[in-house]
Amino acid sequence: MILRPDKTNPASLGFLSQVVHAGNSTDIGTGAIRSPIIMANSYELPDDPSQVSWSATDRLLYTRNSGANQLALQRKLAALEGGEDAVVLASGVAALHGVFFAHLRTGDHVVVSDVTYEATWRLWAELLPQKYQIDVSFVDASDAASIAAAIRPNTRLVHVETIGNPTTKVSDIKAAARLAHQAGALLSVDSTFTPPPLYRPLEDGADLVVHSLTKYINGHGDAMGGAVIGRRELIRPIKADAMVDVGGVISPFNAWLIQRGSVTLPLRFAQQQASAARLAGALEADPRVAYVYYPGLASHPQHELAAELFGGRGYGAMIAFAVEGDPAAQNQFVANLRVITSAVSLGHDESLIVHVGASGPKVAAYFEPIRRYGHLRFSVGLEDPDDLAADLAAALDQTFAD
Ligand SMILES: Cc1ncc(COP(=O)(O)O)c(C=O)c1O
Repeated sequence: MILRPDKTNPASLGFLSQVVHAGNSTDIGTGAIRSPIIMANSYELPDDPSQVSWSATDRLLYTRNSGANQLALQRKLAALEGGEDAVVLASGVAALHGVFFAHLRTGDHVVVSDVTYEATWRLWAELLPQKYQIDVSFVDASDAASIAAAIRPNTRLVHVETIGNPTTKVSDIKAAARLAHQAGALLSVDSTFTPPPLYRPLEDGADLVVHSLTKYINGHGDAMGGAVIGRRELIRPIKADAMVDVGGVISPFNAWLIQRGSVTLPLRFAQQQASAARLAGALEADPRVAYVYYPGLASHPQHELAAELFGGRGYGAMIAFAVEGDPAAQNQFVANLRVITSAVSLGHDESLIVHVGASGPKVAAYFEPIRRYGHLRFSVGLEDPDDLAADLAAALDQTFAD
C-alpha cells in the first residue's frame, strides 16, 4: 500500500520532506510550530516514580538519558539513514567510541580501514590495543581480498569509512558487509563524508552508520555532535553504556542547532558536490598540481566502485590534492588563498583547507605522493564556484611566480 504523505510520519515522506519535517513538531505549551530548545536537565516524574528505570533512554527523565531535543534529532537521523533507531552524542568521536565501547570486549579482534580519521586511527593503533587488549588489523578496505585475509575467528567488528579521511580512498562496503557477516561480525561505517541522500550504508548491509554531525549534517560550523544509526538492539547498548554510563551526551542547544542545520542538507550538499566536481577537474588539468584525488574523477583509483555505491547521485565534496613542490610549497599555496580558509573540520558552509602533515602514526598507510609532496584536504563550501576557481588559480599563480 502506498502511504499518503503525512508530516507526522517520516516513513511516508520523500527525503526532501523528511529533512524539513522529521523530528519537528508543534509545541503543545505555546503552539509554536518549531520544536523549542529545552534547556532542562530534568523532567517531572510521575506520581509513583517507583516503576521508573533510572537508566531509561526512551522517556523524558534526565538529559544524560533522553532530552527532548536529542530525542527529536534521533528520530530525524533514523529516518534519513533508513535505520530503526539512532543515538546522538557530543561529537563524532564520542559516537565512534560508543560503537567500540558497547560492542567490543577484551580479546576481540577488529578489522579497520588503513585510511581513517586521525582520532579513530589513534584509538585503534594505540588506546584500544594497549589499554583493552583489543587486536586490530589495518587493511586496504577498497579491496575485498584484503578484508577477507584479515578476518580471524575472534573478529567482532569491521570498521571502515565510506570515503576515507584524508585520502578519499573508497571502501568496498558491500564486500565488507558480506565478509563481516560470514564471520559473525558487525560492519560499522563512518559515513561522515557521504551523508544521505548521497549514500545510505544500511542499504548495502552495514549494521551501524556513524556520522560526525559536526560536518555536513549540521553544515554551519557552529555545533559539534555525533550519531550512530542502526537496528534497535545494536543502538540500545550504545545508549545504555556509552551515553547513560559514560556520559558523552550532546547539549540540547547543539542538538537543536543540528536539527535546524540539517533542514538544508540536500540543497547544500548538491551545491557543494557540483562545485567540487568542477574544481577537481580544474585542478587536475593544471600542470602545477602534482596529484588530485576526488572519487568523481575517472583517474581516482576507486572511481568505478564509487559510481556503483553512489548510483550517480554524486561523489561527495572532499578533494585531496597537492601542488608541485615539497610540503613547504603546500603551506605557501594555502597562505596565498583569499577565499578558502585554512582550518580543520569539513562540511561547513565555508570552504576549508588543511595541509595534513605527512608524519605521525598514520604515515605508513599514506601513499607515496603524500610522503613526497604533502597533502591538502579541501572541503568545498557554498561560496560562488567562480570565486573558488579564481581563488585556487590566483594562489597557484602567486605560488609559482618566478
Ligand atoms: C570521518 C570522520 N569521522 C569522525 C570525525 C570526528 O568528528 P568530531 O570532530 O565531531 O568528533 C571526523 C572529524 O573530522 C571525521 O572526519
